[in-house]
Amino acid sequence: MTHVSDLILKVENIQCGYDGVPVIHGISLDVAQGEIVAIVGANGAGKTTTMRTIVGLMHPYRGKVIFAGKDITLMEAHDTIKLGISYVPEGRRLFSKLTIRENLELGAFIKNDRKGIDESLERVFELFPKLYDRRTQVAETMSGGEQQMVAIARGLMSDPKLLLLDELSLGLMPSLVEKVMEAVVAINRSGVTVLIVEQMVQEALEIAHRGYVIQTGQIVQQGTAQELLDSPEVRKAYMGL
Ligand SMILES: Nc1ncnc2c1ncn2[C@@H]1O[C@H](COP(=O)(O)OP(=O)(O)OP(=O)(O)O)[C@@H](O)[C@H]1O
Ligand SMILES: [Mg+2]
Repeated sequence: MTHVSDLILKVENIQCGYDGVPVIHGISLDVAQGEIVAIVGANGAGKTTTMRTIVGLMHPYRGKVIFAGKDITLMEAHDTIKLGISYVPEGRRLFSKLTIRENLELGAFIKNDRKGIDESLERVFELFPKLYDRRTQVAETMSGGEQQMVAIARGLMSDPKLLLLDELSLGLMPSLVEKVMEAVVAINRSGVTVLIVEQMVQEALEIAHRGYVIQTGQIVQQGTAQELLDSPEVRKAYMGL
């Protein structure tokens, strides 16, 4: 069981939306140090909105976000990244004309020393040796799966304690989704806590320790990943079983 002191992230009853209209209605969740936690749910359920609220790209109408014991509810994203939260957004968003290495270095924008950036590059290339081989290649000439790896690696360049991954599987064929998920496990083993949101429910739960099911802006089920994988409701609604 997780203890309060182990918690790296605590989201308390957040309500958030667009132009004053709430789309998430009181979401609460916890992430303990060292975990992979998955938020799964269908299109439009509010997964991205939840992520954006945690990192400070938007602010909740109600509720709190606590990171490593600090209230970050009203903090902006350029400050939460300095605390150790990194967000890999939906849709990769690479700079298509820049090389892999240049894209990666942009992920370290909070550092202004060459040595620090080089150290991060080295660590990232150790995790993703293929990216080292391709470091001078322009991003737009890489496959979808390779581009997703670059986007994840860029998210690591700020040396996060908590990495938020939004819909990594988007537009990837199943074998590549599996590869990307393996990379997430490797990142977690290297000591980074991971919060991942996915429409590909089974794939995400297979690598996660715990999960939350989100439906129309509310958590409708939570448990260990195995409990959710075994749940008749989850299997019926999200796995076509
Ligand atoms: N910029 C926006 N302006 C207004 N409404 C928005 C905006 N972005 C998202 N929404 C709405 O908020 C709700 C939740 O969207 P969100 O993107 O958080 O869902 P999601 O679970 O990430 O979906 P997907 O799996 O398709 O990425 C949806 O009804 C969506 O239409
Ligand atoms: Mg989304």
